[in-house]
Amino acid sequence: MSNVKKGIAVVAAVAVVGVVGAFAYAKQATVTRDIGAGAENLTAPSAQLIEKGRYLAVAADCVACHTAPKGQPFAGGLAMATPVGAVYSSNITPDKATGIGNYSLNDFDRAVRHGIAPSGDTLYPAMPYPSYAKVTDDDLRALYAYFMHGVQPVAQANHGSGISWPLSMNWPLAIWRKTYAPAVAPLVLSKYQGDALARGAYLVQGLGHCGACHTPRATTMQELAQDESNPAFLSGGPVIDGWLAVNLRSNPAGGLGRWSEQDIVDTLSKARNAHSAVVGSPMADVVLHSTQAMSPEDLKAIAVYLKSLTPGPDEKSRYAVSDVTAKALKAGHDETRGAQLYLDNCAACHRSDATSNAKVFPALAGNPSVLSDDPTSLIRLVLAGSSLPSTKGAPSALGMPGFAWRLSDEEAAQLVTFVRQSWGNQASAADAGQVAKIRKQIDAEAQH
Ligand code: HEC
Ligand code: HEC
Ligand code: HEC
Repeated sequence: MSNVKKGIAVVAAVAVVGVVGAFAYAKQATVTRDIGAGAENLTAPSAQLIEKGRYLAVAADCVACHTAPKGQPFAGGLAMATPVGAVYSSNITPDKATGIGNYSLNDFDRAVRHGIAPSGDTLYPAMPYPSYAKVTDDDLRALYAYFMHGVQPVAQANHGSGISWPLSMNWPLAIWRKTYAPAVAPLVLSKYQGDALARGAYLVQGLGHCGACHTPRATTMQELAQDESNPAFLSGGPVIDGWLAVNLRSNPAGGLGRWSEQDIVDTLSKARNAHSAVVGSPMADVVLHSTQAMSPEDLKAIAVYLKSLTPGPDEKSRYAVSDVTAKALKAGHDETRGAQLYLDNCAACHRSDATSNAKVFPALAGNPSVLSDDPTSLIRLVLAGSSLPSTKGAPSALGMPGFAWRLSDEEAAQLVTFVRQSWGNQASAADAGQVAKIRKQIDAEAQH
């Protein structure tokens, strides 16, 4: 054998050994504990237990992912994009043939907290089991009681995965789970001072899975942090469906540092507060399906916990109160193209001082969506507009028109840069290339 061929053979042998070893590692049974029924009768659960489970399912937003557009609640079939192809959520109604009607409590536990289906296959982490791993045994039993006895069974077969071979092989996922998914361990509540802080930590890290969107991810896709001990936790996530999940830590500028607890409660219950509004569809869904139906005490607990998250060490403030821009615009000093475009397109609603207007038009000065490092959300908003979700607490749904048809890429970039650098805002400039890319994405979405 020539040296070259020998080299290849060695590499191939190493690869085979690696794959076989990895496969064996992945197939090792993950030991999950029998959690038993505890004090509950899960065959004929009480109405209170079912109601408790219903509320927890709202806090965990199970319906958002497990319901297809125009589909029956919890019958699955929603396509979720992943870097390798679409994953479809499963039917989790108690239908015996197509849903989870035959699941035992331990089957349910393995799927929800450990990410393992009864077949032994690992679930795609599009199912946020790394967060649900923190759910308590008691809450898990209540969820089970609700899904078995409080949800209507729907006969609807599961959709096959849209991921093709070899990426569809399940063992790499199992390795991912074993390497990166945190061990199932209910949160140690005693490390949080006070009931509200502890409850908030539990809701945010566990059921609410806020970090699934708001915590940055590594290239291997796991969230960089699971709790407040790491400053990456909730420090701003990737772009989801075209919107950037903002920093939720108490950063005085880009994050929520200047918000009061009440501001956070208002946003979670009404999708708006005195100076800011929810704009992206992923967060609008969270408010509509989940947080607006949570109790005032639980929303307050979430706010207390978010306010306790100190800013990360290298987070510079990107906002300082200033009236320079407002004065210049009022005096007619609007020479820059960005300022002119702002007066022509935006000032009718957001005014020349860009402070919040009649609680309808959010402030642009010091606004987290305007100040984020990555201008994606602001560019998307200027091009495509947005509609404020109508909630029970604030039913009037108001929208902002899109300006894609009026502004060239260059104009939109100048306008976005103006908004990010005026009224005391100190965020980076946007360029026409970024606008062109997002315009293309919006056009492609409209074709689907
Ligand atoms: C962010 C989206 C998302 C949320 C929220 C979510 N799921 Fe899932 N879930 C999925 C996806 C996607 C799958 C399918 C994964 C796969 O096929 O590998 C899944 C799979 C499951 C399965 C496995 C079903 C089977 O095929 O055996 C169960 C059980 C389940 N989810 C229950 C729940 C419950 C209960 C909740 C709320 C506590 C919940 N899910 C919340 C996305 C989600
Ligand atoms: C499915 C992804 C997703 C999940 C889960 C999620 N968020 Fe968000 N969130 C976003 C995105 C995207 C934005 C930025 C766009 C916007 O403001 O609508 C956002 C914005 C926010 C804002 C700022 C709103 C504003 O007016 O600027 C707050 C506060 C917030 N989220 C809190 C939470 C909390 C608390 C949780 C957990 C209970 C949570 N989010 C879970 C995606 C998500
Ligand atoms: C017809 C009135 C109107 C016009 C014109 C308008 N907006 Fe808005 N804008 C709104 C409303 C209403 C909202 C809240 C919408 C929502 O949350 O879905 C909003 C939201 C925003 C937000 C999100 C703030 C937050 O809290 O996340 C930004 C940024 C913004 N507008 C910038 C602009 C810019 C830049 C222009 C000019 C290109 C503009 N708007 C033109 C009405 C308007």
